[in-house]
Amino acid sequence: ENLYLKIRDYLNDLCSYLRSENEKYNWVGVYVVNNGNLSLISYSGKRTEHEIINLGSGLCSLAVTKRMIINEGDVKSNNDYLACFPETNSELVVPIEYDNKIIGEIDIDSDKKSAFNEDDERYISDICNYIARLVSYVSK
Ligand code: SME
Repeated sequence: ENLYLKIRDYLNDLCSYLRSENEKYNWVGVYVVNNGNLSLISYSGKRTEHEIINLGSGLCSLAVTKRMIINEGDVKSNNDYLACFPETNSELVVPIEYDNKIIGEIDIDSDKKSAFNEDDERYISDICNYIARLVSYVSK
């Protein structure tokens, strides 16, 4: 329990850091796979209703089930998109892999259209690899 809180605090700091360093990152969160759901463990930005997402709906789920990066430059044109904030125009979801399983993801929303490029994908993938072992302690 104590370890869980420490990991959550650390990931909260990481989300704040990423958001403060990148003007176009308007919301940054870490979702963890838990008993068939995605649960939001840490975030920086506005509060969202989607703290628990059923695996199966939204871009966040797609990243897990397809085991791939989702980089959507125009969320409003994507039928799979699960709307969180009215001002969001693009979204980047990068899966976190550990022990050959997808255990979570970093999700970033931007108010800008087509906000994310390959540099963002690489940068966030590196960070996902870096935190994977840590996240494995809080995913089940
Ligand atoms: N838009 C996501 C839901 C999470 S919020 O963006 C924070 C989705 O389509 O799964």
